Amino acid sequence: MKIQVDLRSDTVTKPSEAMRQAMAKATVDDDVIDRDPTTALLEERTAELLGQEAGLFVPSGSMSNLTALMTHLRPGQRFLAPRHAHVLSHELGTGAWIAGGIPLELPWTFAPGVPAVADLEEVASEEPAKAAYYELETGLVCLENSHNHGGGYLIPADLNAALIEVAHRAGWPVHVDGARLWHSAAAQGISPAAAAGGADSVTVCFSKGLGAPIGSMLCGSAEFVERARRWRKALGGGMRQSGIVAAAALVALDQELPRIDEDRRRAVALGQAMTALGLNAREPQTNILMVEPSADSPFTSAQLAAAWQAAGVGCLTMGPAVRLVTHRDVDDAAIALAVELITQATAAL
Ligand SMILES: Cc1ncc(COP(=O)(O)O)c(C=O)c1O
Repeated sequence: MKIQVDLRSDTVTKPSEAMRQAMAKATVDDDVIDRDPTTALLEERTAELLGQEAGLFVPSGSMSNLTALMTHLRPGQRFLAPRHAHVLSHELGTGAWIAGGIPLELPWTFAPGVPAVADLEEVASEEPAKAAYYELETGLVCLENSHNHGGGYLIPADLNAALIEVAHRAGWPVHVDGARLWHSAAAQGISPAAAAGGADSVTVCFSKGLGAPIGSMLCGSAEFVERARRWRKALGGGMRQSGIVAAAALVALDQELPRIDEDRRRAVALGQAMTALGLNAREPQTNILMVEPSADSPFTSAQLAAAWQAAGVGCLTMGPAVRLVTHRDVDDAAIALAVELITQATAAL
């Protein structure tokens, strides 16, 4: 059956009419030879929103993370990231075979997707500051805020600051994969800059939640961004008249960012409906809801997801759960329809 309510991801959104208008009218130039003015404006605005000096517009979140890793790491250095972080599990392992990093998983001690300060302190204590030259050294800590695979759990600002402090004390820079930092900041009632804290580099996406068709931004110091620009080009991410897509992202910042917390409210409402059906729904902190069958259930998550899909509700399985993601193209009426379709499909199992 055709998907009636698409909750597979917040990347499925279609650009708004205002975005299409802005794309048609965008002032553009060659961003590889010189600078594209609309892209430059987006880079400045995003960097300012994140409390960073400069930004680099990239086609995707994966390229942004990989560019960050290549800029921070020397091949053969270790990088730490929470288990199932996007840079570890969902980017074909490029952090290892392209950036040359040696990955080490951090556990989810604080919350799903979120390490505790003690987890990082433990790794730091095992790596003496003046180790012999042949010892493995750590070159980067990656955090993911909010953590996709963990079910959209966010890193509270005080924990984020404490993790960054431990990393910096050990001499390690911190990269925040903030593909959904917008949602994390809104849920905490703080600015994106406050949610990113004192990170050395931050990735944000315009195509997740904000509804733009394409694009992510890697932000950091001006010096970091100039080095990253070379790696972006090496990866084939130097774009010419990129203002065409940057224009849509500027509209997203103006029109979509202020409403982003609605997605969390809808995920919470959906979670309550799933609980009422006797399913195990984890209380969402942002726009991602993870649902599992109860322990004594005769069906699996995969069967649940297949039944919901067949009934017209787009969803994906992730780990042991079914993942449902709210976004700008599902309003309250669409959520009500999803609940109705899910209720019927689950009863028929
Ligand atoms: C947390 C996180 N980081 C990075 C990415 C990669 O973004 P893209 O699909 O634009 O490469 C995703 C994609 O879903 C993500 O969820």
